[in-house]
Amino acid sequence: AIDAAHWPYPRWIAHRGAGRLAPENTLAAFRLGHAHGYRMFECDVRLSADGTPFLLHDDTLDRTTDGHGPAAALDWDELSRLDAGGWHSAQFRGERLPGLQSLIRFCRIEDCALNVELKPAPGTEYETGRVVARMLEREWRGRLPPLLSSFRLEALQGARAGAPSLPRALLVSSPFPDCLRLVQEQGCVALVAGHEHITPLFVEQVRAAGLALLSYTVNDEAEARRLLRLGLQGLITDCVDRFGPGIHAA
Ligand code: G3P
Ligand code: MG
Repeated sequence: AIDAAHWPYPRWIAHRGAGRLAPENTLAAFRLGHAHGYRMFECDVRLSADGTPFLLHDDTLDRTTDGHGPAAALDWDELSRLDAGGWHSAQFRGERLPGLQSLIRFCRIEDCALNVELKPAPGTEYETGRVVARMLEREWRGRLPPLLSSFRLEALQGARAGAPSLPRALLVSSPFPDCLRLVQEQGCVALVAGHEHITPLFVEQVRAAGLALLSYTVNDEAEARRLLRLGLQGLITDCVDRFGPGIHAA
């Protein structure tokens, strides 16, 4: 089992594959993050209309693909034909939306760890957590189990029902009173919080609760150093070219 005192994951985690250097949540991004030395990735996962887990941050397709409207309205067959790279730059035109299965394969081949953020479309929270957790339990062959996280409690509850043994983390932008008790009640092993809200006192409270603490999205070098000094278990960053495993040996 994963626990905070023996946290086995890499400290540096590449946000959406390679931050903004490549189209987020595409295989091109994970390849680039990997080339920069990253061995753990964060990705955003949701369900197609016909229940296939795939990578996309927004509820709608418009910002990061050449499709339009809610992603949850399309079947995987349609989603898998969209261009998810051209919006970023000409160099990445033709990149596809990856199914979670493709990323699982990538992580197996490259021996990388994965943080799957459950990003359910409204109303599909529990089902998304359940289906994604079950797929990961069935298909994941990596050394370290995938870490499931979500802002949505119902998604974490679905994940718990689908694959109780996979580690889970609650995501909060700003820690609220009692959030640690909630994390414990939900059987989560970690909290992932917005970096600017992490104080030495809060780090102490998280440690006393026996939980791991990760932070997002750490894109400032002085802030990264502050968090490393505080002993955080994980830093999720966009800046895979500026800092990370090769630069700060932490
Ligand atoms: O998982 C950490 C971070 O990705 C959460 O926010 O909006 O970037 O998915 P967002
Ligand atoms: Mg995310």
